[in-house]
Amino acid sequence: MKPVLRCLSPTSVAPDIHLKNRVYFAPMGIDAASPDGGFSDEMLGFYQGIVDGGCGMVILGNSAIDASTRLQERGLCLYNESQAEALRPIIEYGRSNDCEIVVQLQHYGAQGGCQLTNEPVLSPSGVACRRMAKTPGYRVKTMLISDIEAVRQQFIRAARLAKHAGARLVQLQASNGYLLGGDSSRRLKLLIEVISDILNDVADLHVSVRIGIDDCVEQGGQTPDQIASVIHQLEDAGALIHKTSESEHRLHDGVRMIRNATELPLGFAGFVNDLDAAERAMDDVGVDLVGMTRALFADNDLVRKTIEGQANQINGCLYDGNCFKDKSNPSLDRVYCCVNPKYKRPASIQY
Ligand SMILES: Cc1cc2nc3c(=O)[nH]c(=O)nc-3n(C[C@H](O)[C@H](O)[C@H](O)COP(=O)(O)O)c2cc1C
Repeated sequence: MKPVLRCLSPTSVAPDIHLKNRVYFAPMGIDAASPDGGFSDEMLGFYQGIVDGGCGMVILGNSAIDASTRLQERGLCLYNESQAEALRPIIEYGRSNDCEIVVQLQHYGAQGGCQLTNEPVLSPSGVACRRMAKTPGYRVKTMLISDIEAVRQQFIRAARLAKHAGARLVQLQASNGYLLGGDSSRRLKLLIEVISDILNDVADLHVSVRIGIDDCVEQGGQTPDQIASVIHQLEDAGALIHKTSESEHRLHDGVRMIRNATELPLGFAGFVNDLDAAERAMDDVGVDLVGMTRALFADNDLVRKTIEGQANQINGCLYDGNCFKDKSNPSLDRVYCCVNPKYKRPASIQY
């Protein structure tokens, strides 16, 4: 008989959050929100498909925490009550199907756009994002203390709204150079303040953090040698889980460094394409949870099919990055997939 996979065994990420297995859908902004930034019926159908497929936890794609920080026209937002109400059905659907739904909170910082907001983007030191600087109307504002205070309040409001919608866990997006990401000294101070603000102000809500291991920039970004110190400070602040995402070759070494620095529940995502790979990641790197984004996007039922002995019928992700490209393709109305018949990219789109 085939041994039972450890990634399919239950675990807890907080005293009141028990997961039926250790596989989670790592966040994917599919850019299919309603015109007001709320969770649409299209998104509800999409995420119900992911929940039905059998993973233990779903982290929703990033929600912008304020109208002043936007990137995609159909990007999800969480700064008012009607957006919170729109989230409630998926959180309840997850709960009734034994799948924890986590809300990811996002401030885009200098990587936001100005077209939707007509305001300059916030940058701690006034540094522009080279990619976004090419977009029409892009302007940067160096953050003042009053801007920092406002951002802290926006995170608290978004966390409160997530709680109001029924969430028990939020994730702060502190990787990939967004506002809460970056080098470990001064920006870490803001991240820690935001964690403390939420824990102090919103009862019964846990906070997890997504961090990068290596921003792969020439200077001033997060580097692997800072990881242990960053983790200890986040741990002291009361953060719960550290999620990481990296380029494939550096991923396992970096995650191992985090594992050595903390006993907190730890998960990572990046190029895990089946449950055997998830199992190897647990064995080799010692993570507690394994995230899959593109593999579950390509086949929502990957976990269920594997459990039922139908792994040979899984639609495999091609890992060609086309879904990333959809995000900045003006002729598309959302993110599509190369292989999933439920939302296959129109044949007219060729990269
Ligand atoms: C289209 C697309 C959208 C994404 N959106 C988010 C997001 O909203 N928040 C986030 O933290 N990561 C986002 N990611 C990164 C994924 O969570 C994940 O780290 C990455 O895809 C690598 O994992 P995978 O190899 O399993 O796909 C996105 C990835 C893709 C492909």
